[in-house]
Amino acid sequence: MSRTRLVIGNWKMNGSRDDNAALLRELVFEAKKYSAIEMAVCPPAVYLDGVGQQIGGSPIRLGAQDLCEQAAAGAFTGEIHGNMLKEFGCRYVLVGHSERRSLYGETDERVAQKFVTAQVCGLVPVLCLGETLADREDGSTEAVLARQLDAVVASAGIAALRDAVIAYEPVWAIGTGRTASPEQAQAAHAFLRRRLAESDAKIAGSVPLLYGGSVNAENAASLFEQPDVDGGLIGGASLKASAFLAICAAAQARNGQ
Ligand code: 13P
Repeated sequence: MSRTRLVIGNWKMNGSRDDNAALLRELVFEAKKYSAIEMAVCPPAVYLDGVGQQIGGSPIRLGAQDLCEQAAAGAFTGEIHGNMLKEFGCRYVLVGHSERRSLYGETDERVAQKFVTAQVCGLVPVLCLGETLADREDGSTEAVLARQLDAVVASAGIAALRDAVIAYEPVWAIGTGRTASPEQAQAAHAFLRRRLAESDAKIAGSVPLLYGGSVNAENAASLFEQPDVDGGLIGGASLKASAFLAICAAAQARNGQ
C-alpha cells in the first residue's frame, strides 16, 4: 500500500522572527520541487501567525507543537485551544512529544485526551511515542510502545487513527546524534502496525508512520528505505534549510515505493 510521504519539521523552542523569515524564504522557494510529498513546519505557537502568512500559497503545511486537552475554552491560563490553532491555519498538531511527556509530566491519558480534542477541532494529531534507553536495554520497547498506543486507541477508538499520523521517536535518539538504525526503526514501525492491525488491518496499513530522532541529510535515505517508515519528524535538522530540504528529497525519492 502506498501511503503519503510526510516530512514534518519540529522547531521546538527555537526561532526568532528574523531567523524564521530567512529559513522560510528558502523553504518556500524550493517547496514546489517536493510536490510528491507533504512538508510541514511546527514553529513555537507565537510564530504560527507569521509563519502561516509566509508559507501561504506554498504547499508547505503548518503544524503546532502542542494543544490543550480541554474541549471547552475558558480558565486555563497559558494554554492554547485546538480551535485557535485551526483558526491560524494549522493542519497538524503534535501530541505526546517525549519532551512534553518527560519534562511536563504528560501522562498517556492526557496525551490521549489531546489526541481526541485535536480531532474534534479539525486538526490531524501527530501522536509521538517512543521508548527510553532504559526501556530498550531492559527489553521493554514493545511493551512501552503498546502502552502508549493502546491508551490512544482506547480513548479515541481505532477509527480515529484513519485521520492521524504516528511518529516513532525513541527518546535516546532525540537530539543525541545517535539515530536508530534503519532496522531498529523498521522493527518498531512494523510492531506498531501489527498492534493496530489487531483492531483494524486496513487502518493499520494506511496510517503514516514517521521516524524521528537525529534524522539528518546523511541518514534520511536509509531510514526512509524501510517499508514501514513513511517519512520523518525532524528536530535539529529542520532549522537549516539545506538539511531539511535534503531530507525532503530523500523522502521524495522513495515516494510510491
Ligand atoms: P532531533 O531531530 O533534533 O533529534 O529531534 C527529533 C524530535 O524530537 C522531533 O520531534
